[in-house]
Amino acid sequence: MRHRFTHIKGLAFVQTAQNPHGFVSGADQGNISIVENAYLDIDKGLIAGFGAMNSPEALDLSGIDTVENVEGRWILPGFVDSHTHTVFAAWRESEFDMRLKGVSYQEIAAAGGGILNSALALSFRDEARLCDDALQRLHSMRKTGTTAVEIKSGYGLSLETERKMLRVIAALKRQAPQTIKATFLGLHALPTSFHGNIQGYVKEVVEQWLPALADEGLIDFVDIFTETGYFSVQHQDILLEAAHLLGIPSKVHVNQFSSLGGVSHAVSKNAYSVDHLEVMTENDFEALAASLVKDRPTLATALPGCSHFLKIPYAPGRTLIDRGIPLALASDFNPGSSPCSNLFTVWNLACVHMGLTPKEALAALTLNGAYSIGLESTMGSIAVGKRAHFIVTEPSTSLAFFPYRYGENHAAKVYIDGVS
Ligand code: NIG
Ligand code: FE
Repeated sequence: MRHRFTHIKGLAFVQTAQNPHGFVSGADQGNISIVENAYLDIDKGLIAGFGAMNSPEALDLSGIDTVENVEGRWILPGFVDSHTHTVFAAWRESEFDMRLKGVSYQEIAAAGGGILNSALALSFRDEARLCDDALQRLHSMRKTGTTAVEIKSGYGLSLETERKMLRVIAALKRQAPQTIKATFLGLHALPTSFHGNIQGYVKEVVEQWLPALADEGLIDFVDIFTETGYFSVQHQDILLEAAHLLGIPSKVHVNQFSSLGGVSHAVSKNAYSVDHLEVMTENDFEALAASLVKDRPTLATALPGCSHFLKIPYAPGRTLIDRGIPLALASDFNPGSSPCSNLFTVWNLACVHMGLTPKEALAALTLNGAYSIGLESTMGSIAVGKRAHFIVTEPSTSLAFFPYRYGENHAAKVYIDGVS
């Protein structure tokens, strides 16, 4: 069944030639192509063709089974949310209340709240309920255009509860409409049972939990929270090295509150991405820029929803792009630091607070997000042969309208593998 959309106001982020890198960076990130007054063909769940309505191909309807006029609407690649904590047992609005009264995120964590609060709640929750709740969240993420999602463990912090989270994520891979990637974040916080024994915890996670959970096929990536008061760069090295020996790629939470050197260490271990980056030093920029010569450079991932919600600095997205470093944007959806999964909102925050253009931010939310979780060959842009994951928007006069008119859901229909 070949289906054609016609009279598309703007078909954004089309790629015709084979992209040599699988991501966009520097000036290319702001120069993504748009076809105005376009058509788009999909067939068997894949993008089968596209072009301008006034091209000869647009007049040729042979082989087209159904035609749909979407005049006034845009078609965008489906968003790829490359950093989330979508599996959790409970929201944490009481901590929000405390923060409004002046208590900081770090103070709440030090008093046993924060990640440990989520871990306690999750320890009492069964797999079926965790899965149902996460599925609900994924369905609402789909409504706002998200067609692929990375989900982290890290609210378990014991072998059994980390396994429970990863088994839930595995179930979501089977049941959710989106493509899902599972990230093992056992080194998210030090559980109370290991109080005073961080080395022992790291050793147990790396030497016992990681190989066991990897053996069960539950892990696509590993991650660690490298931060003052959490884990050190040395711990990060130990984890990333062990993962590398198991053939598992890595991503890291780094530079959220302080720059400890985790960025350059992540680059040296070929991490797929370094995420957060609210606090950056010259060394951090240089390490990321130097990684561009590698076959698979380390991407920078900014999480402006977290900056907004915790009232911390925004990652220097403008500078990262100007220095040629490929930038992705993600929601960081979680109950503590970023309870919003709407990537149209993230698009607005990236333009308003990080100085990105609407096109740069769209590329960051699509192809670069896909690249940071290894999905760039099958999604993230409108290209023939890629999976038909895309958003048909509400009517809009320009691309800038989407981040400008913030707080709205601009997705009218969201297609995954050609089905809405
Ligand atoms: O990316 N910074 C570490 N982890 C999460 C927050 C987790 C939480 O507060 O529950 C983040 O912001
Ligand atoms: Fe996170």
